[in-house]
Amino acid sequence: SPSNKILSISDLEKSAFRTLPVGTREFYNSGATNQVTVRENISAFQKYRLLPRVLRDVSQVNTTTRVFDRDITFPLCVSPAGIQAMAHPDGELATSKACARMGVSMGISSFANNSVEQITAAGREVGPIDHAMQLYSMNDRKKEARIVRRAEAAGCKAIFLTADSPVLGVRYNEWRNGFQPSPGLAYPMLEKSSEDIQKQSHDDGFTSFNSDSHSWEKEIPWLRSITNMEIWIKGILSPEDVEIAIRYGCDGVLISNHGGRQLDETPATIDALPACAQAARGRIRIHVDGGIRSGSDIFKALALGAECCWVGRPMLWGLAYNGEQGVQLMLEIMYKEFKRCMQLAGCKSISEISLASLAVVRADGP
Ligand code: FNR
Repeated sequence: SPSNKILSISDLEKSAFRTLPVGTREFYNSGATNQVTVRENISAFQKYRLLPRVLRDVSQVNTTTRVFDRDITFPLCVSPAGIQAMAHPDGELATSKACARMGVSMGISSFANNSVEQITAAGREVGPIDHAMQLYSMNDRKKEARIVRRAEAAGCKAIFLTADSPVLGVRYNEWRNGFQPSPGLAYPMLEKSSEDIQKQSHDDGFTSFNSDSHSWEKEIPWLRSITNMEIWIKGILSPEDVEIAIRYGCDGVLISNHGGRQLDETPATIDALPACAQAARGRIRIHVDGGIRSGSDIFKALALGAECCWVGRPMLWGLAYNGEQGVQLMLEIMYKEFKRCMQLAGCKSISEISLASLAVVRADGP
């Protein structure tokens, strides 16, 4: 079987690189301006080294952790990334099924090509699964509320309010390639038909609905008044913003720089994480995404204070490789690597992963 050749996330990335047309590939893989943060999200993990403890019984390793009041298989979920049907015709439906099969949660992008009703149902056909609905602050409050109500009715557990996108990042690739989703693809959550989408550039399309006059005060109390779902802020990097999220009664934050696609030259998320986790002091959930590409990356993020990690691009590469099975393969690779990492490091459960599991970081580290 072809999957024999795919052993790592890097193998999946190379396979997707060969499969996807250049415009799609660059839309998925690139970030803002000079790609500094895209690169650093990956390279920053190399500042940290693992410090194993030996001669511990690791025959019964428990990799599970609790997210949205459910034990998930291991501390990795799939971030909300838009336009998945360009990677594979099944798009988000395939991702949802793969997440359900592997027992992890999924974020649904506002730019999904399938509706929240279809995506949640596809996952539940396979098994129990929780979804979070990603939301942008929008000019049209009624439209924004419709997304929230539909997500809640479809059984989503949380809103992920993306806070790092008052405007879209500066993305040379999209402008150079005149990026457009394939004809025929719609954004049902944004109530945009394929015809609407083809009329505008991606950039103009974003500006047409997204609010750059958003604020904590405008968004959070309003969201709280219209939904009982958990409210998470996606795209925090500053410990000060963690404090504010706590003050506004948010349930969690996803430490994220949008995979380097918004403001370039922000810190790598793994570097921003420790101060944010310290500020939280257990008062709010701290998750992280950006550049997670292996089991040891997950391990490092947990050691530095995250409860759970999320991945964007590896899911897209899995989809491009082989749809639902490709996403499942991505999650299996991550799971096997993470479990072995725990065993080799001498950790029997997630709670045993701590700062003491990391060696002194390299000279260029904090
Ligand atoms: C994204 N991401 C994203 N985030 C969000 O809040 N709403 C969205 O619609 C999208 N869309 C999107 C499309 C594509 C192609 C990518 C690659 C990413 C960001 C995503 O949720 C996540 O933060 C990053 O992908 C995490 O970084 P890695 O794992 O891709 O390095």
